[in-house]
Order: sequence, then C-alpha cells, then structure tokens
Amino acid sequence: MPVASDVVLGAGVVILHPDQVNLYGCTIGDDTRVGPFVEVQRGVTIGRACKISSHAFICSGVTIEDEVFVGHGVLFTNDRHPRATIDGRLQTESDWELIRTRVERGASIGSGAIVLHGVTIGEGALVGAGAVVTRDVPAGAVVAGVPARLHSGGVRVGVPELREQLSGLRSTLQAEFQRHVPLGTLLNDRWTLAAERGFGEGTLVYDECLILGDVQVGAHCWIGPFTVLDGSRAPLRIGDYTQISSGAQIYTHNTIAQCLTGGRATSVAAATTIGRCCYIAPQAIVAAGTVLGEHCVVAAGSLVEGEFPPLSFIAGTPATRVGRVEIDDDTVRLVREGPS
Ligand SMILES: CC(C)(COP(=O)(O)OP(=O)(O)OC[C@H]1O[C@@H](n2cnc3c(N)ncnc32)[C@H](O)[C@@H]1OP(=O)(O)O)[C@@H](O)C(=O)NCCC(=O)NCCS
Repeated sequence: MPVASDVVLGAGVVILHPDQVNLYGCTIGDDTRVGPFVEVQRGVTIGRACKISSHAFICSGVTIEDEVFVGHGVLFTNDRHPRATIDGRLQTESDWELIRTRVERGASIGSGAIVLHGVTIGEGALVGAGAVVTRDVPAGAVVAGVPARLHSGGVRVGVPELREQLSGLRSTLQAEFQRHVPLGTLLNDRWTLAAERGFGEGTLVYDECLILGDVQVGAHCWIGPFTVLDGSRAPLRIGDYTQISSGAQIYTHNTIAQCLTGGRATSVAAATTIGRCCYIAPQAIVAAGTVLGEHCVVAAGSLVEGEFPPLSFIAGTPATRVGRVEIDDDTVRLVREGPS
C-alpha cells in the first residue's frame, strides 16, 4: 500500500508514481506534487501547492506550510539521540521524544539537505543543496554548508575594494550635495530609516541616532546625527515638525539611584513628551519626565527637566524658562524675560 488509506489528499494532488512512494497517516494539501521514492510519515502535514521531489524523507513531527519546495533526497530528523534498543529490547514510540520541525510558507530546501529536528525554516528562506540545517533559518535568508550558515551569495569584497566602492559613493554625494557623512548615513536613506521605524510622513532620521524602545515621532521632523531617543523604560513622544539637532539626547529614564546603591534601587522612569514645532538645539539633554508644550525652543547645551508651557524659550543647566517665543505668521522672535 504505497499510499495508505489513512492519507488525506487535497484536491488536485499529483503523485507521479503512486506505487513507488510510501505515504501513511499524513495530510497533503491541494495541488501539491509528490515525486517517486518519497516517504511521508504519520502526522506530517504538507500544505497546498508544494513540490516534494524524489527520494525526500519527511518524518513524523514535520509540518510543511504552503508553496514549499523540497528538493531531491532531502532528509528530516525527529529524534535527538536515536537508539535502536533500550536494555536489549527494541525501542517503542514511548521510549523517545519526538521533536517537531516547521518549514514556513514559500521556503525552498535544496537537494540532499538534512534538516535536523526542532528547527524552523522561515518564510521564503532558501536552504542550499547538501546543507545540514542545525538552527532556525530566518525568513527570506539563504543558508548553505555544514552546518548551514548565512550564504553571502558568493560576494567577497576585500578592504581595498570596499574602500573603493565607498569612495565612489562619497564622491557622488560630494558632487551632488557637497556633503561628507558617516558610513551609516552614506549607506542608508534617512527618510527610509524613519519610515521603517513608523515615524510620521516626511520625517528623516540619521542612521547615527540611537533609538531605544517606545519612541513615536510625528510627521516632518528632523532627527540629526549622534542623537539619542530613549524610550526604553517609558514612552517618548515627539510631535510634528520638531527638530532634534545634532548631539541632542532625549531620555525617559535614569539609572542614578540604581548605580549609587550598587543595584539595590531600581532605575527611575517617566514618559517624556516634546510638543509639535519644538526646536531642540545641538547638545541639549532632555531628562526623563520632561514635558515641552508646542513651539518651545531649547538652547544649545541645556539640561532640561520639568514641565514647560507652549512658546517657552528654555536655556541653561539646569534649564529654566528664560523667555518666550513670539510667532507672527512666518517670523519668529526669541524674547528674553527678566526673572519674575
Ligand atoms: C546555495 C545557493 C542558493 C547559492 O547560490 P548562489 O548565491 O548563486 O551562489 P554561487 O553559485 O554564486 O556560489 C557562491 C559561492 O557559494 C558556494 N556554494 C554555492 N552553493 C553552495 C552550497 N549548496 N553549499 C555550500 N557552498 C555553496 C560556491 O562554491 C561559491 O563559493 P566560491 O565563491 O568559494 O566558489 C545554491 O548554490 C543552491 O545550493 N541552490 C539549491 C539547488 C537545488 O538543490 N535545487 C533543487 C533541485 S534542482
């Protein structure tokens, strides 16, 4: 019985040579094709529109999602320490632990690969021919070799060639924009980085910004290089059209007490909010729990802590409200006020 009666076959499944396979207790999804000399064991689920090439061995514990390619002679395993016997008698199913393996949607496994028990091959990943997969393969990754490791695609570039390529990029940037930027920003588009973080439309962030935890930035913001946006312990919120200049650091926690007590005290955390249309000048530091209303300006090098109403001109270390911001249509005045 090459295809056992307990096999559940979806609509349109093609088994090229039903007399030359060994399928039992498994489920095979619609439109999947199975080549000759394939064994699929009890409990295996294979999704729809998969290709299972000849000589593949798919053991119990394996789940294969839709549109997966399994190459010729691919082997799966499900037992970490296989043994034939225990105390001289043959092992039964209750004598060993079955370890499950998953192949996610659209992945491909090259011919002759061995997929060890317990791994997950991520969606769309590609396993090279002859690989031994011992660890999870990230979605979309290409792995090869024994043990399987990320495959570079064969591109190997020495330091001189790398310098030459970077120098080409730098020349282009210089010619077009008269700019020299650090490597991260040379290689990454600032608007794309911001979009990838879920920041608002038209916002840009330099690659040299350290962004931790729960940070939300509105639309049309400018986040400069060598900045810190720390939302690691509490939310950090930055409104639309705000600029965080080079070297500015915005925090939502401090570890002062934790440090001074040798770890007995916990770190202090509080949400920090910077309203829309605020300008944070270079090297300013905004401490945890600070709330700035709209249209505030923070002078360069200030250390800001506390709550400040809209249109505040904030400066100093520690910073105080030293004046007000006056906005008349498209003109702005920073007006110093004496101590009240
Ligand atoms: C892994 C794989 C995707 C890499 O393809 P690629 O990116 O085009 O790689 P290249 O052919 O350019 O080779 C690049 C380097 O990787 C090496 N390499 C390629 N495939 C390899 C593999 N499966 N295992 C180990 N090394 C491999 C090559 O030897 C080469 O090394 P070199 O630069 O030292 O000479 C591909 O080789 C592969 O194995 N595909 C699966 C084929 C298959 O089984 N098809 C199913 C049935 S027909």
